[in-house]
Amino acid sequence: MRIVILPNESQVGVEAAQIVASYVRSAPRPAIGLATGSTMNPVLDCLASIYANGAVCFDSVELFLLDEYVGLDRSHPRAYINEIRCFADRIGVPEDRVHGPPVWDRDLNEAATRYDKAVVRAQIGVQLLGIGENGHLAFNEPGSPHDSTTRLVRLSVSTLEANSRFFDSNEATPRTAITQGLSTITRAKHLVLVATGSHKAPAVADAITGEVTTAVPASIIRRHPQTTVVLDYPASSALDLTRLAAIREAEAITVDPGTNDGFNRAR
Ligand code: GLP
Repeated sequence: MRIVILPNESQVGVEAAQIVASYVRSAPRPAIGLATGSTMNPVLDCLASIYANGAVCFDSVELFLLDEYVGLDRSHPRAYINEIRCFADRIGVPEDRVHGPPVWDRDLNEAATRYDKAVVRAQIGVQLLGIGENGHLAFNEPGSPHDSTTRLVRLSVSTLEANSRFFDSNEATPRTAITQGLSTITRAKHLVLVATGSHKAPAVADAITGEVTTAVPASIIRRHPQTTVVLDYPASSALDLTRLAAIREAEAITVDPGTNDGFNRAR
């Protein structure tokens, strides 16, 4: 696992976007796994700028969403598919190459299974990931099994509280969603976890230096052979350096040499 710690969220966005762009340049048929949420805004903005500058071409790219609310109107601007279609439009990717959990189907269990197969078949090259304040990954809430696949889930109270800011009220926030499972997500070749802001610091510390446990779903990324964690100073502020040093060798963790100084200044 490589950990990159940068002063602010726009530099975090550049770092994560560059990982995606260099994958797209090197892969004949790139499949990118996208996350939603405010953390991703600087990453997606930077990808759109790289595209606008002509430094990367998304011609043959397929985009796959991690998760989707159940119960929103198909045209709701907060439906993740609509948010990602807006981004796709900025990088010249047509709607038919933007894929998400088919939550408007009648049989949601069948829809989830079908989407899981599509994601597995696509062989995601880079999967962008955010982290919830409760350590969730996509909508895999604490307690989600490591071998979980794409499925219908109920959102935790903590997630409802955090995500109600995107809706008129807590009551208007969807209670259920379809999410890729932890097993599905970790099939991607390269996992890129992005976290910014001090409100994410405890969850980041639990995921990176705590136990690998279903109680902290994001901790599963430590079992993956190619993981990059990109943090801003505030999100890194609760990392326990003694514990990190202890597990660093055992888990082949590197803190990006270019940002070691930043890491120390972040304390
Ligand atoms: C949401 C999404 C996740 C996202 C996370 C963090 O509930 N389902 O995919 O990564 O929570 O969101 P934000 O970046 O807005 O903090």
